[in-house]
Amino acid sequence: MAALKQAASLRGVQGRSWLDSLTLTSGKAENMASVSMGATRRSYRMVAVHAGVSGGKAVKPAQESPHDGTIKSVERVITDDESPKPGFLNGREGSAEATVSITVVGASGDLAKKKIFPALFALYYEGCLPKHFTIYGFARSKMTDEQLRELISGTLTCRIDQKENCGDKQEEFLKRCFYHSGQYSSEESFSELSRKLHEHEGGRVANRLFYLSIPPDIFVDVARSSSSAASSKNGWTRVIVEKPFGRDSESSAELTKGLKQYLNEDQIYRIDHYLGKELVENLSVLRFSNLVFEPLWSRQYIRNVQFIFSEDFGTEGRGGYFDNYGIIRDIMQNHLLQILALFAMEPPVSLDAEDIRNEKVKVLRSMRKLDMANVVIGQYKGHVRGGVKYPAYIDDKTVPNNSNTPTFAAAALFIDNARWDGVPFLMKAGKALHKRGAEIRVQFRHVPGNLYKRSFGTDLDKATNELVIRVQPDEAIYLKINNKVPGLGMRLDRSNLNLHYAARYDKEIPDAYERLILDAIEGERRLFIRSDELDAAWSLFTPLLKELEIRKVSPELYPYGSRGPVGAHYLAAKYNVRWGDNSFEPTED
Ligand code: BG6
Repeated sequence: MAALKQAASLRGVQGRSWLDSLTLTSGKAENMASVSMGATRRSYRMVAVHAGVSGGKAVKPAQESPHDGTIKSVERVITDDESPKPGFLNGREGSAEATVSITVVGASGDLAKKKIFPALFALYYEGCLPKHFTIYGFARSKMTDEQLRELISGTLTCRIDQKENCGDKQEEFLKRCFYHSGQYSSEESFSELSRKLHEHEGGRVANRLFYLSIPPDIFVDVARSSSSAASSKNGWTRVIVEKPFGRDSESSAELTKGLKQYLNEDQIYRIDHYLGKELVENLSVLRFSNLVFEPLWSRQYIRNVQFIFSEDFGTEGRGGYFDNYGIIRDIMQNHLLQILALFAMEPPVSLDAEDIRNEKVKVLRSMRKLDMANVVIGQYKGHVRGGVKYPAYIDDKTVPNNSNTPTFAAAALFIDNARWDGVPFLMKAGKALHKRGAEIRVQFRHVPGNLYKRSFGTDLDKATNELVIRVQPDEAIYLKINNKVPGLGMRLDRSNLNLHYAARYDKEIPDAYERLILDAIEGERRLFIRSDELDAAWSLFTPLLKELEIRKVSPELYPYGSRGPVGAHYLAAKYNVRWGDNSFEPTED
């Protein structure tokens, strides 16, 4: 078979987890490493190693595999044509096959039921989990394995395009799910869990992943008890945590410090599930692998950028959590800011996690202090439409009836660097609005000396190009252009160059949690938040959040199901911007 030589990044072109199986012979550049993949043997030449994992001084860090996170990139020499499969996790050369145990801590919670177990099943269904894996649900309530299986079986779904064997696959999957009841802060509970995991691991290299699907005030307790009593002795141990990571800079720093007492930074996988969304991941591909976009990606051609998140339902059932955080902490400080950082970063040196995260941090640290004058907050109020009564935010029983917590916010942000000087980055996020969606809108500048300007009347804004990346629902990327309406005469209209995912790709798009859990299993940290990114994100928003709270700023009320407070339009207008989602959209057919 023809030898094929290609450079591959950590998340290689044809797969990724095969890198987990590399045997490193020493820590310097230009080493040879080899790996056995089933019966196939491949060679890799190290181009650079040691990504330099940042880590605090861990008092008692659990073990991480020696090669984890240390490979910069490798030049891969494939000596036959069998391409590695994603999810390949068998052991390092010469060792027994590896196994992965995934423990979902907080297994009876909503996130676990709705997102984590279904994502694990989807990975299993797609053949992305390693041959040897075990899933444990851990929570305080007493439950049998059977009861856990029953609890989660209702939420497991199969991919639309591969419905065959779905029932069998579900059964096989459920047989590998177990339950352990214990106390979150009890080392005893975790050592009992460890004993059970050990039985399943059957003497193989044991890798352990803990997904903390629990409130953040017990993250540190669980990190302590799990790392001291249930860490792997011969493989890696990783912990996934999900926001909220504190309420401000101080509480976030305290949480990070607490976790780092027991875990190294490279064991902590901070999820922002928006980074796992297909079109967010595609942002870098769009920018860096197409000639046409990157040259335009600066203040020279871009007039403004908009990041818009809207939900057509309120906080129903989550008021207790939400009231303590509000929309700025819930959506802007993380999901929208992360997308902004990816959007605006300089080209990274490579696709390695550290290179990308370094660039994102630079963007966050270049952002101008967020000013009250550049922020609008709102809260939805109840109203009746078509005979249907829609509740106000404060109608939620778990919300105090004098709550000032914003359920809507709009902000104008600026990045004070050479690329983006003066370009408004507008964010808008709200609950109980007229529609559900998340999108990025890039509005380009006017065409200088436009020969056709008479065709646009006085409103030149209508003639500018706009690139829309619709993250959800109904994923699409489209570019609004001016076009001649066919026929005699010269009449222009606005049309879309449209990449509509449902029409172009027949595969269902994986859920963000699938991608992220797979990445965590494979040690790929690119889509997870590093602690310095988190600090920079909090530094941007903390002064504003404090001011809003100290001054008890009242949110502008907007009716449930509306487009949000009118203040958002004035804010945009201050920078000569119109929100793209409110303007006329050409039809897409
Ligand atoms: C979560 C927020 O992070 O994201 C929720 O806490 C929000 O308030 C959710 O509803 C939206 O996620 P998605 O993937 O449904 O858009």
